[in-house]
Parts: sequence; structure tokens; C-alpha cells
Amino acid sequence: MKRILLSLVLIVAAIAIQAKTLVVYYSYTNNVDDIVTALSKQIDADVVRIQPAEKGLNYAANNYAIGSALISAIRNNPNDAASYPAIDPVNVNLADYDCIIIGAPLWWSNMAAPLQSFLFKYGKDMSGKRIGLIVSSASSGISGVEGDAKRLIPEGDFFSPSLWIRSSQTSNAAAMISEWLKTIDYDSMTGVEEIRTDQNIGKYTIFSVSGAMVAKDALSLQNLEKGLYIVNGKKIYKK
Ligand SMILES: Cc1cc2nc3c(=O)[nH]c(=O)nc-3n(C[C@H](O)[C@H](O)[C@H](O)COP(=O)(O)O)c2cc1C
Repeated sequence: MKRILLSLVLIVAAIAIQAKTLVVYYSYTNNVDDIVTALSKQIDADVVRIQPAEKGLNYAANNYAIGSALISAIRNNPNDAASYPAIDPVNVNLADYDCIIIGAPLWWSNMAAPLQSFLFKYGKDMSGKRIGLIVSSASSGISGVEGDAKRLIPEGDFFSPSLWIRSSQTSNAAAMISEWLKTIDYDSMTGVEEIRTDQNIGKYTIFSVSGAMVAKDALSLQNLEKGLYIVNGKKIYKK
């Protein structure tokens, strides 16, 4: 009976720890929206689109005057909540996610203001999570947007490099995303990773996918059959 109870507990733990990804983005002229559509076809993720509370603004009018004013306000007082434009409430529980991919338009070399509003509020709740950044700009380089992301998510564990997709490359986004996911080794975080049999696993405990503990030292690891395993209840590994 005790054994059955123990394996039930472990099975629940195994289900609860499967890595989950959230994609959060803002898009004014829908380039990032197209990028996120392409991304969603390649990874399993929940998706949230940030919407400014004030509707119908033309951020591009008068040589991008409104967008420019919003970015200036943040640059001048980045630690003041009042510098960030209001956004619609976002219904998301960040504790559910291990990885967050941010889709950001570039405005005046910075991250678009409404997305900064979201991260100003929630970035501190993303500490220790894997963070991926995809930036869309007409031509400007993305280091300012990366700086904003790191300022707003100070304890984020960022994938490197970020992915930069120029507006003119939007139609090629699927191929660029696919390459990027390989470069950052996205699969090793969410899914399957090879584990070497000579690896020192003293600090790990390995469970079968049904929850039975099958190895906790290098010797027992070497004796494992090829297959999928859960390590420390955190990741699924393939031997
Ligand atoms: C307010 C504003 C400011 C922008 N500033 C720049 C800029 O400084 N450099 C640049 O290359 N593109 C700039 N852009 C263009 C956007 O980065 C680009 O069109 C991007 O693809 C927009 O993404 P979206 O369609 O998802 O909104 C700006 C766009 C807006 C609306």
C-alpha cells in the first residue's frame, strides 16, 4: 500500500514539473504577431498578447510622436510606475511557466512601451526562469531592447543570442525561428536531452516516467536501459 501511494505521489510530481513555455508579446503593425504565429507552430506554448489600455492611438503619426513620447517618459524615469503606459489586465500565472519567450517590437531603439509596462509589473516574478527574446525592427540593432529586457527581468536566465527579425524578414520568420531554437538548444530545456553515462550524477536522482526511482549514482545510471527518464523531477532526459 505504501509503495502504491509513493508511486502515485511521484507520478503527480512528474506531471507537475513538465517544462511549460509562455509567449508574451506586443504588436502594433502585426509583424510580431506574424512572428508569434510562426513560433506557435514550432513550440508548445501558451500565448498572451499585451494590449494598451488606451485604444485607437496612432503611434506612427507625426513621425512616431506618441511612441517617441512614451519611450522618453520611460527613459527619463525607468523606476517610476507612472512612466509606463497603462495596459489591459493580463490573466496569467507566471508560476506555471519555466520559460518565457518575449516578442518585442523595437521603438526608438528600445522595447515598445506597452510591453515594457507588462515587464515592469511582472518581470520580477520571472526570476530564475529561462527567458528568450525575439525582436522586430525596421533596421535598428536590438541591443537597447536587450538592455530593457535585462533591466525589467533582473534575475532572468536569458537564452543567448536573442533573435532579431527585421520587418522585411517577417515572411521568413519560420525558418529563422527554427534555426534560433536549435542555436539556443530549446529542446534541452523543455523536453529531451541526451545524458552521458559517464556524467557525475551524485546530485541527481533519476526516475522512470512512471515515477519509480531508478538511479542515483553513476553506476546505476550506466545500468539503465535506453529510454526517457525524469531527473530530479525537473527535466525529462533521454538515454
Ligand atoms: C513608435 C515606433 C518607433 C519605431 N522606431 C524604430 C526605430 O527606431 N528603428 C527601427 O528600425 N524601427 C523602428 N520602428 C519600426 C518597428 O520596429 C518595426 O516596424 C517592427 O516590425 C514593428 O513591429 P510590429 O508590427 O509587431 O508592431 C518603430 C515603430 C514605431 C511604431
